[in-house]
Amino acid sequence: MNNRKLVMIPGPTPVVRSIQDQMGRETVAFGDPAFVKDFKELVADIKDMWRTEGEVFVVAGTGTMAMEMAVANTLKAGDDVLVISHGYFGDRFIEICERKGLHVDVLASEWGSIVPVSEIEKKLKEKNYKALTVSHVDTSTGVKAPIEDIGRMMKQFEDTLFIVDGVCATAGETEYVDEMNIDILFTGTQKAFGVAPGLAILWAGPKALERRESLGTIPEYYIDFYKWLPIMQDPAKYFATPAVNLIWALKESVRLIQEEGLENRYERHERVGKAMQKALEAIGFKVLADSNNRASTLSNLIYPEGIDDAAFRKKLYEEGIVVAGGLGSYAGKMFRLGHMGNIDMHDLVSVIATIERSLCDVGMENQIGKGVAVLTKELMGCE
Ligand SMILES: Cc1ncc(COP(=O)(O)O)c(C=O)c1O
Repeated sequence: MNNRKLVMIPGPTPVVRSIQDQMGRETVAFGDPAFVKDFKELVADIKDMWRTEGEVFVVAGTGTMAMEMAVANTLKAGDDVLVISHGYFGDRFIEICERKGLHVDVLASEWGSIVPVSEIEKKLKEKNYKALTVSHVDTSTGVKAPIEDIGRMMKQFEDTLFIVDGVCATAGETEYVDEMNIDILFTGTQKAFGVAPGLAILWAGPKALERRESLGTIPEYYIDFYKWLPIMQDPAKYFATPAVNLIWALKESVRLIQEEGLENRYERHERVGKAMQKALEAIGFKVLADSNNRASTLSNLIYPEGIDDAAFRKKLYEEGIVVAGGLGSYAGKMFRLGHMGNIDMHDLVSVIATIERSLCDVGMENQIGKGVAVLTKELMGCE
């Protein structure tokens, strides 16, 4: 049987037809009045949706570029920064900050758990940190950081900016920039927005913008807030060519989010995350993240004894389901499954059924139907 390929890695996520259609439109000039209007509306909608008074930047590039953009616009060589790391992507900030000549202190957790907020608070009292960075969801571990609690605690440290990497969270996990005391939040289009890769979205609050102002001219050019701010305020202006079709695609994604309702979307992600994790536990997998800090957007699943990672993922691929391997010391011991964005409920059932079949194929005792039963019960609420 020749199955379609269902991309279930934690980004890019499946792109629905109406978003694909926007990417397939005939490209127009970036100064075309109709496009300028669309871009302007998109920026306004994103600000509205995440209830922020700050500024929004929509710039061609990936999540990593947004990480650099956050650092470049708020910190200068010699500043102290505190990196909270719950995995591979938390660690990525270390190199970005070190290359910029920052003094970096790191609080890192065991993979699967979080750094307690009390420990972060204690560390922040030691020095005048100019910023703290944390990934809301670290994609390598499936750990969700308690950003609301961290934000609340950080109110006492007025000089420390709260920089949140939302790449594997934003538009899937609950986030309100102002209410959570976040100064910078960013993501890429390929995750919970359900658009193809290629755009970074970054929110900067008043404190972050003040910090930018205090820095004067910065060494970075393309990612300078001050190069993009005039464009975000009036997209008829030019700085660097906008990704016209991706901007349309993101606009359609935002329309879908508005149609669903942001709260409903957060609730759906939570429900789906829990249901998928329960279903996968029922057929022998162990979720890496502790039960009280699990992401809803993806699951990081440790194999049952005796299952060969390469053989299992090859079988899944042949059956049409594409998942990601484990990172770091979990390579070969774990696989990663995205369930965020505009994921289809029927596809989720099919994913679990295919995983059950593939487990059988690579030698595990028969699990057929067990995970699907749990998933169906959890998602549909039937006994
Ligand atoms: C939490 C997190 N931060 C940053 C990144 C880097 O994003 P990109 O690959 O779009 O550069 C990723 C990518 O998966 C991520 O999951």
